Amino acid sequence: MAYVLTVFFYAAILMVSVSSSNDPAGNGTDCADFNTTSWGEYWQGIRLQVQYLLLTRRNVDCASVFTNESLSDPLQPTHFNSSLPTKVIIHGYRATGSKPPWVKVLAEGLLQAADVNVLVVDWVYTASFAYNSVVQSYKEVALQISILINKLVSHGSSLESFHFIGISLGAHVSGFVGTLFEGKLGRITGLDPAGPMFKGADIFDRLDPTDALFVEAIHTDSDYFGISIPVGHVDFFLNGGMDQTGCKRSRFASILLYFPVYGYVICDHMRAVHVYISSLNSSCPLIGFPCPSYERFLAGECTDCERTFKGTCPQIGLLENSGITVSPLPHEVKLFLQTSSSAPYCAHHFLLELTVSSMARNTGVEITLRSMGHPDSQQKLWLKTKESKYSRVMSAPVPLCKIDSILLKGTGSFFYRPGDVNIQSICVSEFPITSQKEPLCLVNFQLHRSSLWSHDFVQVCGAF
Ligand SMILES: *[C@@H]1O[C@H](CO)[C@@H](O)[C@H](O)[C@H]1NC(C)=O
Ligand SMILES: *[C@@H]1O[C@H](CO)[C@@H](O)[C@H](O)[C@H]1NC(C)=O
Ligand SMILES: *[C@@H]1O[C@H](CO)[C@@H](O)[C@H](O)[C@H]1NC(C)=O
Ligand SMILES: *[C@@H]1O[C@H](CO)[C@@H](O)[C@H](O)[C@H]1NC(C)=O
Ligand SMILES: *[C@@H]1O[C@H](CO)[C@@H](O)[C@H](O)[C@H]1NC(C)=O
Repeated sequence: MAYVLTVFFYAAILMVSVSSSNDPAGNGTDCADFNTTSWGEYWQGIRLQVQYLLLTRRNVDCASVFTNESLSDPLQPTHFNSSLPTKVIIHGYRATGSKPPWVKVLAEGLLQAADVNVLVVDWVYTASFAYNSVVQSYKEVALQISILINKLVSHGSSLESFHFIGISLGAHVSGFVGTLFEGKLGRITGLDPAGPMFKGADIFDRLDPTDALFVEAIHTDSDYFGISIPVGHVDFFLNGGMDQTGCKRSRFASILLYFPVYGYVICDHMRAVHVYISSLNSSCPLIGFPCPSYERFLAGECTDCERTFKGTCPQIGLLENSGITVSPLPHEVKLFLQTSSSAPYCAHHFLLELTVSSMARNTGVEITLRSMGHPDSQQKLWLKTKESKYSRVMSAPVPLCKIDSILLKGTGSFFYRPGDVNIQSICVSEFPITSQKEPLCLVNFQLHRSSLWSHDFVQVCGAF
């Protein structure tokens, strides 16, 4: 089924005409840009064509072409500064042969955050159209990149100063460059590393923790385009790593109803890029909690970072080693967090704890946290006759002190009308636990059949 859908999807994409790139200013004649390709050129045979675009703080808006001769040729002065760290951006598969539109935003974000050289690897020529043949040539692209890196090292850059940011297939290209340098590159960030044809691959063939001194990945579409296994020292699985908030749920429906569909279909996959870009200059932290599975995270079993990270939770962004201070670095740690559906994506995590008196039969309860001006956070619980304590993780774009009200509704089951529920206590606390954050607790009340129970909180956020 997945394969049929995939083939259908690629066919659909290929039928969508390639839109020409828009250059509103229209004066970038001296600035370098991606070499895009077309279906027609593709038929003339794949060419291995890789070019590098250099962006620095001195030419943020106007990329220049960078070659292995740029440093030695006195006739082409370059802004590349060997004493600064270098960020290498590698895009992934390009279904339509067009240029990846988010690269500019990512490069700008990186330059705003740090004084670095940004090298953008343009391999659109090789990365377009048939996914299978793209997968066959990604190592050759990595080999070419490694030749350039060697050149830069001979001009004074250190291997540790390179940070590769690879998107989708670009994550595995980065991984193979790392393999060629025996893991001595400084850092690799995989943004939803590609899954198809890589999940079962040997670590030689895919991104893995031995590829750099620090390897991290952000997973947002691990049931479709992304890889579902951990590939770094730490792996952030956003909202479980599969389906992102605000992205269309049913891919099949979206293919049929919203044609052309590219934007809808890759929404989950691209979320990793948008979240990463946002983390570069966002004021709110996107921290992940180590947990064996998303189910156990949702069940409230993993609300701190004590055991694995001595209390400091890893954070998405440019902090050294994602803020991890333990040594040696652990491997393949799955980290979970929930996000909101738009920038800056940060969510506040709450632990909901419910205690009920014993009941005659199973029943459902729907719990809603409401904050004026924000979407509701909702959680459905299935209460069983033999259990009295329940805990669940919820999240909201606002901190606990900005939650205005809590609403509870008995939803019953398909067959029975909802029965009354005796709530002994319901508590909501924010985690990770920080100072002076008291949980909100309500005790001893009855939730009557099918009626809505609500409570308004009167609270003020403390000044920090
Ligand atoms: C190109 O555009 C930039 C702003 O984007 C402007 O400052 C510059 O003067 C323009 N150059 C030419 C030659 O039009
Ligand atoms: C990119 O495109 C330009 C213009 O079409 C061409 O001159 C140049 O050779 C291309 N570069 C690469 C690396 O293919
Ligand atoms: C630069 O790369 C080109 C093509 O990859 C190669 O032909 C050339 O010899 C290289 N130059 C240097 C100085 O390494
Ligand atoms: C290169 O970067 C170093 C370190 O920031 C700085 O001291 C130096 O002036 C830079 N060189 C050039 C040519 O900008
Ligand atoms: C980052 O900051 C710049 C300028 O301060 C702003 O234009 C951009 O929208 C910001 N990006 C995000 C994702 O917040």
